[in-house]
Amino acid sequence: MTMLPKEEAARAILARNDRGGYTVPTDRLYPFQWNWDSAFVAMGFAIFDVDRAYRELERLIEGQWDDGMIPHIVFHAPSDTYFPGPDVWGTRHRVPTSGITQPAVFGMALRHVHEAALASGTTGATERTKPLYQAALRSHRWWLTARDPEGLGLVSILHPWESGSDNSPAWDEALARVPTTTTTAIRRKDTGHVDASMRPRDEDYQRFIHLVDTYRECGWDPRRQWAAAPFKVADVQMTAILARATADLMHLAETVGTDEEKAELSRMHERLLAGLARRWRPELSRFVNLDLVSGKDIETPTQAGFIPLVALTLDDRQRTAVVAEVERWLSGMVVGVPSAPSFSPAFEPKRYWRGPVWAVVNWLICDGLRLNGSEDLARRIERTTVQAIEGAGFCEYFDPTTGEGLGGDTFSWTAAAYMVLGRRI
Ligand code: GLC
Repeated sequence: MTMLPKEEAARAILARNDRGGYTVPTDRLYPFQWNWDSAFVAMGFAIFDVDRAYRELERLIEGQWDDGMIPHIVFHAPSDTYFPGPDVWGTRHRVPTSGITQPAVFGMALRHVHEAALASGTTGATERTKPLYQAALRSHRWWLTARDPEGLGLVSILHPWESGSDNSPAWDEALARVPTTTTTAIRRKDTGHVDASMRPRDEDYQRFIHLVDTYRECGWDPRRQWAAAPFKVADVQMTAILARATADLMHLAETVGTDEEKAELSRMHERLLAGLARRWRPELSRFVNLDLVSGKDIETPTQAGFIPLVALTLDDRQRTAVVAEVERWLSGMVVGVPSAPSFSPAFEPKRYWRGPVWAVVNWLICDGLRLNGSEDLARRIERTTVQAIEGAGFCEYFDPTTGEGLGGDTFSWTAAAYMVLGRRI
């Protein structure tokens, strides 16, 4: 197997962040198992250790709730370096978990790992895939019932942390309506690990915890939460990832599913694609979120507007427009795609989700560009991402104007992204 220049270092990070079959995003700052981080990490492991890739997904599923939700954090082992911990969430699952979820990359990862297992001639791959496929299917059912009860064909987040883009300017207006009062005493730990100027502001943190308090008081019941939620956004990034993961499950269902499941998945898929297609705004050359509390579009430019390409086949006019828009966002940047463009008033190149570049976001955007025929642009973005990692290290994210590495270091999903994207360029 050809090795990339920093491949050994990437693998060493995954080994170092291993806590027994699951990988923490990075030591101390994020000391538990995170949902979409683990899905990306599993795809990284699939390159050189299929067994470990399956293990990552199996351990995540230990946290799956009876109603199908896969939580955003699984607290397998205690740690006092993170807030809010299990006591704040107050959930009642067998393993302590948070009470909210994260982007459904799981189904994408499962297909990826399954195919890597077949390609490497691993015995028993199908048997190992089966229960994970069932878990994924149950989680997709949860998404469509709990988070699209009105049948919009779009799934909603009830907390900014569910989006994975925690501090995105896309949430500013909707979050501003959330009270800053909390019943939980706030003891931030993140600013002890990372420079406070890169992290969310205190007031936003209070709102984040207000939402946790509200949903805990609903007993984590999806219907009660939906009714009580002061923050409810139909998110195109989330919907697109779910739609793409649904297509991946449809593919797996050919070998491990039943005819009824195939039909069910294909109905889900059509519903999500139709919902997403309605979020295209030609005048903005991207897709936009819908704020279900105000009933208004959220036009703030963020990377989420391009993620639907992972699921949808664009027409020629849309494709040309998206490519031109991505080029505009890249212009003047050392590394892209920025999480907010430099021409936006919200742009802050060093602050969490308000400008910096995430390698895993680029992974999704490049997948989408490629699926839509823009191989050259995809490769250019991948090349600069790999260069940024080789130059600055396996950081959490990168300043698009300088390529400087920021946030936590020795990050698992950056290591996984490096190995996957590095093999494509
Ligand atoms: C931050 C990110 C989120 C990620 C987590 C662990 O909360 O916003 O997307 O999953 O860190 O890396």
